Amino acid sequence: MRKFSPEYLRRTREGMWDDSRDALQDLSLPDRSRVLDVGCGTGELSRVLDAETPGEVVCLDADPELLRVAREAADLPTVVGDATRLPFPDDTFDLVVCQALLVNLPRPTDAIESFTRASSDLVAAVEPDNAAVGVDSTVSAEVALERSVRESYMAGVQTDVALGDRLPDIFESVGLCDVRTRRYFHRKLIEPPYDDAALEDAARKANGTGLAAHETELRRTLSDDEYDALRRDWREMGRTVVEQMQDERYRRAEVVPFDVVVGRVPE
Ligand SMILES: C[S@@+](CC[C@H](N)C(=O)[O-])C[C@H]1O[C@@H](n2cnc3c(N)ncnc32)[C@H](O)[C@@H]1O
Repeated sequence: MRKFSPEYLRRTREGMWDDSRDALQDLSLPDRSRVLDVGCGTGELSRVLDAETPGEVVCLDADPELLRVAREAADLPTVVGDATRLPFPDDTFDLVVCQALLVNLPRPTDAIESFTRASSDLVAAVEPDNAAVGVDSTVSAEVALERSVRESYMAGVQTDVALGDRLPDIFESVGLCDVRTRRYFHRKLIEPPYDDAALEDAARKANGTGLAAHETELRRTLSDDEYDALRRDWREMGRTVVEQMQDERYRRAEVVPFDVVVGRVPE
């Protein structure tokens, strides 16, 4: 199982669902009485669910360290467990949902089957379409390098990180009905004045730690020489980002599309 740091989750979810929650409409949050957020990590989605539903929100993850951070951030019950074998009797919840979990699982269908057993009504998944991420930057090398890293990463990762339009088929294959899909675009803009997160991000580019987080997957498709060259180009790009920030010239826009798929457990 890939490990995620609280810092990574905070950075990648920053601002998510703050601009609009329309894409969550089919989750019928105002009508829910018991909701399970599976693979909740530090509780980024759990807190949004808690704000939108009068029901109880339970947070589950396989990583107890992330659950500890989730507990510190919100007073919600947490459970350590495996998404593919949820430790609850059938029909315990009326919504079982996950965000950015299935793209990390070797067998996402097993998780959706387990969600379907634990829910008496709705099952939902919010999953990024990593193949359709868009980046624009005043540092032109950043756009090309990020695209090439994303492509190599997707080729080297051992799970389907661009599940996207196959999700409805997976939902239907486990017997869920009335399957609906909406899209949410998570937009992130970096521009002056830069906040601490933007400054940290630039530092991580310049010192190479951002790239190192994906080293295992990248090395599966790149030779040692190719990886070393990429690392060199990446750090040089990072130094240009830092320079542009010093002159307040740096701007970066990123859009990550998320598919929100919801299905109903048949009577
Ligand atoms: C990309 S993070 C997403 C966290 C959170 N849902 C969010 O959107 O910020 C994926 C999460 O799934 C958890 N995870 C991975 N495999 C799991 C499994 N088999 N059972 C439960 N949690 C799992 C990881 O520990 C991590 O917290």
